[in-house]
Amino acid sequence: MITLGIETSCDETALALIETRGAADAAGAAGSLECRVIASLVHSQAALHSAYGGVYPSLAKREHGKNLIPLLHKLMIEVDGGVGIACELDDAGFRDALDNFRTEIAPQNPELFESFAGAGDAFLKKVPAIDRIAVTEGPGLEPALWVGLNLARMLSALWNVPVVPVNHMEGHVVGSLIPSDAPNGAWQKLFDIPMPAVAFLMSGGHTELVRVDRIGMYEVIGETQDDAVGEAFDKTARLLGFPYPGGPHIAMAAHEARERGIKPPVALPRPMIGSKDLNFSFSGLKTAVLYATRKAPLDESGALPDEWKKGLAREFEDAVSETLVSKLRAAMDLVGARAVVMGGGVVANHTLREAFKRVAAEYGVPLFLPSGYISGDNALMIAVAGAIKDAAAEVDESALRADGTKKL
Ligand code: KG4
Ligand code: ZN
Repeated sequence: MITLGIETSCDETALALIETRGAADAAGAAGSLECRVIASLVHSQAALHSAYGGVYPSLAKREHGKNLIPLLHKLMIEVDGGVGIACELDDAGFRDALDNFRTEIAPQNPELFESFAGAGDAFLKKVPAIDRIAVTEGPGLEPALWVGLNLARMLSALWNVPVVPVNHMEGHVVGSLIPSDAPNGAWQKLFDIPMPAVAFLMSGGHTELVRVDRIGMYEVIGETQDDAVGEAFDKTARLLGFPYPGGPHIAMAAHEARERGIKPPVALPRPMIGSKDLNFSFSGLKTAVLYATRKAPLDESGALPDEWKKGLAREFEDAVSETLVSKLRAAMDLVGARAVVMGGGVVANHTLREAFKRVAAEYGVPLFLPSGYISGDNALMIAVAGAIKDAAAEVDESALRADGTKKL
């Protein structure tokens, strides 16, 4: 089965084409499922949002609208015969479809509609032989989600291909099943996760501990009560004067502090580390960083000294790491976890990855850590999550709705 994946929940515009074969086994693990990545593209808007210190929803929406069709064109060029052409639409067929989209889609996403209308002769009239479109329906920024959903609606109607809506967080769980070492185009078996597993999802918008009994069967057992862990990284980075997204800057500064033996200038709290539940709260940590910056010595130019910032980044990373590790242990004990699955952009953090590896080794269970490009937002994980659902998950394109707070 060939699946097109579409992801626009935040500030990455992403598309992917994959082929899958085999079946999941009854225990809910990956069974004989195999996947072939035909092409996967991510266009990041992070640099544009940097000026706002975070993702600016109406800008994200407009950028997705401008970028999706050029990205789809690039994807089709990259695929280069890897997917056959099912048929070619004539002018009348394309025009009829556009007439419907003009009233249904153009008012909401004018940039998307305009570029769609202009791309008929370039490639849209050549209907690729794909079996399914998988698209993120939430959670995320609703105006941004709608752009991807509207692209899915138009392609579904134009190409007569069914759509499967995918939960973004499920995408991050499934992302860790995708091996990253095989070259594009090669068949690779999806990792088989022993169940039950604990999935730990951490991104700019989410911090969730999830009990996974099988692929498709999830229960959120812990979540943040305020800021997400990525948000805490981003806000702390901002206080230290680093650009958005701040996570990688904090990580680099902390790494240098450790290498050079720079000590933390203050002790930060380990939020909720002693609480009995599996929930998180990071807003107090951010406030502690704010107070620390106010009391910090300043250099001659009135700025925070470089060494002070690096020492603080180190302490911040340690505080986050110890908190996440203590909650992970508690979740694994509760679930009787036979595996741990990680997902979300924050998983790119080296210190956290090493800490999670130590916990998994101590429990003697496998840890599924997605590789760099799969841990951040991408459409490959959405395509795979959509492809492994059964036919009952297919919906009529007119039933697609964005849900910014969609639960797993
Ligand atoms: O999953 P993701 O790409 O987007 C969503 O938020 O859905 O996650 C982005 C988050 C940002 O908050 C970013 O600062 C954080 O992941 N991040 C990191 C690192 N790389 C990205 N946080 C800590 N250390 C990193 N190396
Ligand atoms: Zn994400």
